[in-house]
Amino acid sequence: MNCCCQPDRNWEEIFKQDKVDLEMITGVLNKYRGEEGSLIAVLQETQAIYGYLPMLALRYIADELGIKAAKVYGAATFYTQFRLKPVGKYLILLCEGTACHVNGAERLEIALAEELKIEKGETTADGVFTFDTAACLGCCSLAPVMMINGQAYGPLTPDSARKIIRDIYAREKADQERGQAV
Ligand code: FES
Repeated sequence: MNCCCQPDRNWEEIFKQDKVDLEMITGVLNKYRGEEGSLIAVLQETQAIYGYLPMLALRYIADELGIKAAKVYGAATFYTQFRLKPVGKYLILLCEGTACHVNGAERLEIALAEELKIEKGETTADGVFTFDTAACLGCCSLAPVMMINGQAYGPLTPDSARKIIRDIYAREKADQERGQAV
């Protein structure tokens, strides 16, 4: 039986499934090579490039920067800002901060999960949306708020949140149809 602390865990299989172009982070690695304490910045910039932190990239970062792989994986899994799975085209972050909580964030979570047919932390089967929650998004005057790819929407009701999702879906569908017609 394998366990996560066994050194012979089937990483090779995991890496094989994880198809990423490692050359995309050459610039990041060159920028921080030899710079002490730069691991978090390297991970942040790597995530900005891939949209998440592929396992293969984590091992590559460890090898290239001469940092223990366990330290790199440890940082990637410890900080909530890092994602280890690919995200959808639209990343929805529903705020769970105090102002949003007292203004009905919980009802929004239920409405969004119903509309998207996924739970928080998941991505829709078509890869269009990833739904997650976050601590205060820094725009409490709009509470309750969600952010989609960095754009804040609020104050929301369950219905207005659903409408935003439907509008994006409609735009996506129209774009797809236009693409097929060309
Ligand atoms: S508490 Fe939600 S934006 Fe601050």
